[in-house]
Amino acid sequence: MAQKIQGTEDLFGGYMRAWQHMQDVARELFGSYGFDMIETPAIEQVDTFVHGIGESTDVVRKEMFRVVSGALFENLLAAGSESGLKAKQRMAMRPEGTAGVVRAAVENNFVPQGAAPAKLWYAEAMFRGERPQKGRLRQFHQVGVEWLGAPDPAADAECIIMLMEFYKRLGFDLSQLELRVNSMGDEDCRPAYRDKVRDFILAHEDEMCEDCLERAQINPLRSFDCKNERCQRVMRDAPLVTDNLCDECRSHYEQVKRYLDAAGIPYEEDPTLVRGLDYYTRTVFEVEAVSSGVGAIGGGGRYDGLMELEGGKQTPGIGFAVGFERIALALEAQGSSLETPAPSCVYVACASPDERAAAFDVTLALRQAGIRCEADYQGRSLKSQFKQADKLGAPICVVLGSEELAAGAATVRDMRTHEQDLVPLAALPETVGTRLA
Ligand code: HAM
Repeated sequence: MAQKIQGTEDLFGGYMRAWQHMQDVARELFGSYGFDMIETPAIEQVDTFVHGIGESTDVVRKEMFRVVSGALFENLLAAGSESGLKAKQRMAMRPEGTAGVVRAAVENNFVPQGAAPAKLWYAEAMFRGERPQKGRLRQFHQVGVEWLGAPDPAADAECIIMLMEFYKRLGFDLSQLELRVNSMGDEDCRPAYRDKVRDFILAHEDEMCEDCLERAQINPLRSFDCKNERCQRVMRDAPLVTDNLCDECRSHYEQVKRYLDAAGIPYEEDPTLVRGLDYYTRTVFEVEAVSSGVGAIGGGGRYDGLMELEGGKQTPGIGFAVGFERIALALEAQGSSLETPAPSCVYVACASPDERAAAFDVTLALRQAGIRCEADYQGRSLKSQFKQADKLGAPICVVLGSEELAAGAATVRDMRTHEQDLVPLAALPETVGTRLA
């Protein structure tokens, strides 16, 4: 039997409706903030991710699924290296949405000089070659937003406020969510801070793991996220970014916090929050559902240098993304669910095959009137059609029999009260519609 790849899931039934519900909530809420939907390709040139996310990040180094066409694959195997490939032949499945949206913004000039900011949201599958576990998949789904062209700290605060409202509308008890914020500095103050952390790690060389020693050279801030307990103990005394911000970054961060305070959004400052993607500057944030055991259910931040890294003009940006699967698990841990029941439908039954053609006409007329309806397509008896109607949770059954049809009518049966009456065929859509309402 063919099997799905480990770390991937089929979305169907209630789970699929949950994913759609999440998108509906996003459309409504993000729309009210002026965000428009975008969809970028699931495959991009590797360089789009390398430039944006950063060559030294785990996402790019270890987790990106590379894509090659069959013909190229043969050549690659023969050549034994990809060095002969052109940039456009080096492709990858998107591990996250920001780099692709920013690439699209550069290519389509979403934010021309002097224009209003571009506000975009997406709901897409993402792909990361991670070791699958609860809440950690190889194909997962994110809802995210990207706001390009807005340097104002109010934009950072509004993003966070909108994110917390999103969780609320999805059914979270906000008192059980932990929002952590930090500032990562910018190109003026971060390089010197990065050097300080690298020197700190090298000064504690004997106590740090191999990975952290490698990180010290390529991406020292990642050591704040090392899972090794000894490294964690050492890193508690490492220099903190918040003590090393330049005046502009400090002032930006203070204003973001002031806006959050004014909006009554509780948060915790976490000067060790560094996030796993290199494009962040200044504000970063992450949300976890307390004791859900699924890790972050969302995160984001500002990326004022990313447009340039993707080949565009200097344009500030900020955004976030949340993971659908983790949100579903975290809600379940709170005793709640995103799943909605299948919408009910009217059942059109016929007493014998002689009424089948009339049933066909009635279902068409009901659907024309916007009424969801189902009928029998398997030649079942009337009794088993009623059973099927019950199984579908149909509140109303339209029954077509030879006598009713001879009188140009059908029986409309209320499946809960079992009351029924005769309704002229021409009046069915209106009568059924009124009763459903
Ligand atoms: P991220 O923190 O890498 O940020 O991912 C955002 C969310 O996606 C996580 O908080 C988590 O809920 C979910 N997620 C990530 N990896 C997995 C996985 N392997 N399995 C299941 N869920 C996962 C970003 O992706 C940034 N692009 C967010 C952003 C937008 N920053 C600015 N704009």
